[in-house]
This record gives sequence, C-alpha cells and structure tokens, in this order.
Amino acid sequence: MSATPRRVENLHTDKGKVPVYATGIVEQPWDDYSDDDHATWATLYARQREVLRGRASDEFIAAQDAMGMTPDRIPKFSELNEVLREATGWTLMGVEGLLPELDFFDHLANRRFPVTWWIRRPDQVDYIEEPDLFHDLFGHVPLLMNPVFGDYMEAYGRGGVKAHAIGPDALQNLTRLYWYTVEFGLIRQKDGLRIYGSGIVSSKGESLHSLESDAPNRIGFDLERIMRTRYRIDTYQKTYFVIDSFEQLMEATRPDFTPIYARLAEQESIPAGTVLDTDTVYQRGSGEGWASDGDV
Ligand code: PHE
Ligand code: FE
Repeated sequence: MSATPRRVENLHTDKGKVPVYATGIVEQPWDDYSDDDHATWATLYARQREVLRGRASDEFIAAQDAMGMTPDRIPKFSELNEVLREATGWTLMGVEGLLPELDFFDHLANRRFPVTWWIRRPDQVDYIEEPDLFHDLFGHVPLLMNPVFGDYMEAYGRGGVKAHAIGPDALQNLTRLYWYTVEFGLIRQKDGLRIYGSGIVSSKGESLHSLESDAPNRIGFDLERIMRTRYRIDTYQKTYFVIDSFEQLMEATRPDFTPIYARLAEQESIPAGTVLDTDTVYQRGSGEGWASDGDV
C-alpha cells in the first residue's frame, strides 16, 4: 500500500464491527468471527467442493487444493498470503465491501486482491446480492494461484486504470469483459465444458444452471462481442462465454484496447440473451424462465 490508511467514520454501521479506513481497507477481525460465521463457511465450503467436482475446471480445483483452505474455520488472510506470495506474488487485503472502481483497478494492477471480510448470514447461504467473504475467498482467490490467470488479473487492473481515464463507455466495455470472464466464465476442457468464473463457483444454483440447464446460451469467447454484450445482475446469466484456455484469454486481451473502445463506441450493445450469426454456438438456449427486461 502506498500510504498508511487513515481511520475515518465507519459508514457501514450494519456490518460495522471493525474500523474502516479512508481507502475502505480493514484488518481482518479474525477473532471476532462467531461460531455461526465459521459454520456458514464450513457449510458452503463442503457443499461447493462437492458440487464442483467434475464441474469446475481442473485448474480451479488444483489451485484451490494448492491454497490449503479448509472447511473447519474461516481462513486467515495472513496465512493465505504466505502461500500466495510464494506462488504468484498476490496479496489479499481485507475490505468492507465494493471499492470505488479506480481504487479496485489500482489494487489489481499491483497484485493486491480486495477480499470482503464479513460472511453472509446462515439464511443467505443460497443467495446474497453483494459479494461477501465466501464469494471473494472461495470464488476469486484460488485462481490467483494460477500464473496465467494471475497475470490476467493484473493486466485487467492496468487496463481498468486506462479505461477509467478514457471514459464511461470504455469502462462499461471493460466491465462486461470482467463479468463474462472473471465472474461468469466457462472453459472448454478435453472432457467438456467446465466452470472457472467466481460468480458461478460460489453459487450452487448457478453451478448447475450454467452447465446443465437448457435455458442459457453457451457461446465461444469473442472479445469484442463480449464487450458489447449486456448482462444480468439479478438472475442467472442468459449467456455464458466459453474460453479454450487461460492462455487464449491472455493473448486476446494483450492488444491495446484504445482503438477497440473507439470502434465499439460506434456500435449498438447486444442484449444479454441474443445469439448472432457470427457466434460459435455450443448451445442455443431455450430461453426458459428469462425475464423480458432488466439487462444491465
Ligand atoms: N490490453 C488491455 C488494454 O490495453 C488491458 C487488458 C488486459 C484488459 C487484460 C483486460 C484484460 O486496455
Ligand atoms: Fe466477484
């Protein structure tokens, strides 16, 4: 961190057990977790490991195994940080919740990953609107152990700082890429489609839906197509995009996006559920259960 965080008034009084600094950063208040908190972690951890067997990508499972998270208690960021530092040089930082976009990008660009310190209540195991510790730690952190994916996240952070300077449209294009890869990405293995997106791996319902439901489209990765595509924040995705490898993701996003943003500014956005003639279609969704509006 560049400057020592300055303690300010804690505005998040509902969660507010810990001091929040001007940057939104907190020290993980590990001793303050309740038995219920640890039990929620244990329940979700055991359940998702079961669901993800044969569904999550081999890379995700290998990375999660290598981290040494266990179900018995909420992991300590300080312990995970020793493992991460050794593997790929990433550092976890405790945060109260979502950060301002530019702060988030700056952290990623410097290989710091913000992790929400608090965990959802027991009655929220199936669904929670905002990212919590389970989503961040179980969903996002394992792939930071993967050298290629770790590099992608750093590059994304640098790209974010740049897009932020270009303007809101560029930022929207880039956010769609994050959504359809980091959060909701699928990957094609020799033995079929698997999950790597953290929004999916941290959700039992979406793990099953994304791979096994007839409803959604499953379409081959196409950078500019994704950057034009609207998405869902309140329902399962209507479309999932499938990469062949993390190397493909890295290569496709290596070019300077500045001319791409300029080109995309001239084009219409694509509704979340639309299939184009130019798409590589693994599955054309039945559209069953889709809300008719509400794409972001
Ligand atoms: N190459 C992109 C740019 O120039 C940055 C980027 C890298 C974006 C990786 C996303 C993922 O803006
Ligand atoms: Fe997330």
